Amino acid sequence: MIEVDEIDVSYGNIQVLWDLSFTVSEDDRVVSIVGPNGAGKSTLLRVMSGLHPVDDGRVTAWGDDVAGLEPSDIVKRGFVHVSEERNLFGDMSVRENLEMGAYTQRGSLDETMQEVFELFPILEERQDQRAASMSGGQQQMLAIGRGLMARPKILALDEPSEGLAPKITNRVFEKIEEISDNVTVLLVEQHVHKALGLADRAYLLENGEIITEDTGPSLLESDHIKEAYL
Ligand SMILES: Nc1ncnc2c1ncn2[C@@H]1O[C@H](COP(=O)(O)OP(=O)(O)OP(=O)(O)O)[C@@H](O)[C@H]1O
Ligand SMILES: [Mg+2]
Repeated sequence: MIEVDEIDVSYGNIQVLWDLSFTVSEDDRVVSIVGPNGAGKSTLLRVMSGLHPVDDGRVTAWGDDVAGLEPSDIVKRGFVHVSEERNLFGDMSVRENLEMGAYTQRGSLDETMQEVFELFPILEERQDQRAASMSGGQQQMLAIGRGLMARPKILALDEPSEGLAPKITNRVFEKIEEISDNVTVLLVEQHVHKALGLADRAYLLENGEIITEDTGPSLLESDHIKEAYL
């Protein structure tokens, strides 16, 4: 379980998250955080991953303050974050990229890779291909697959539909739903309709503050979301 407790976060002297609190636990299926460009969604994930410090407040991962942990310790505890940039190793093969995801060695690499191949058969077919030569949708699947190789309890996905055609976006969301049968998904999206449709619990983040929390479907029905996002 990750608990974010009243955090303030800034870049230099510009504050971008304000008194923000929320939790995500293995009991959740899908928790979504939606909000416009620049709201602070990616910053929040970076803080949770131990990549950016808080000015005030606290983030704990399974009880330990992330301020005292290395990013790799947070991965080992079970929180994996697939960043917006995907950060694939373009010159390496699909298989090598997946192997890199397993560096924390939770469980058997071969078994985990087989599970990832069952979820994404295209990755098995293309396992010897250079990652950079894959299509945008395939690269997104590879980035998610690589995240799963660390056997997370909670998998955070930062804008998995970014830059993808609508048909491919639908495929990615189908896969996310499938993943959520086994792993809690923390989904950060500008694609509000899809992200809220899947979410048991959802938060609307604007200008660095959570302004509404509700079930995904209820938030989707709210006047504010309808007027501003749909
Ligand atoms: N490395 C950085 N240095 C300075 N300011 C930054 C940096 N990264 C982000 N910011 C600023 O912090 C705020 C929050 O950015 P963040 O990337 O977290 O938003 P976001 O909700 O993920 O947006 P997007 O939907 O565009 O990905 C923005 O005002 C952004 O300009
Ligand atoms: Mg972002």
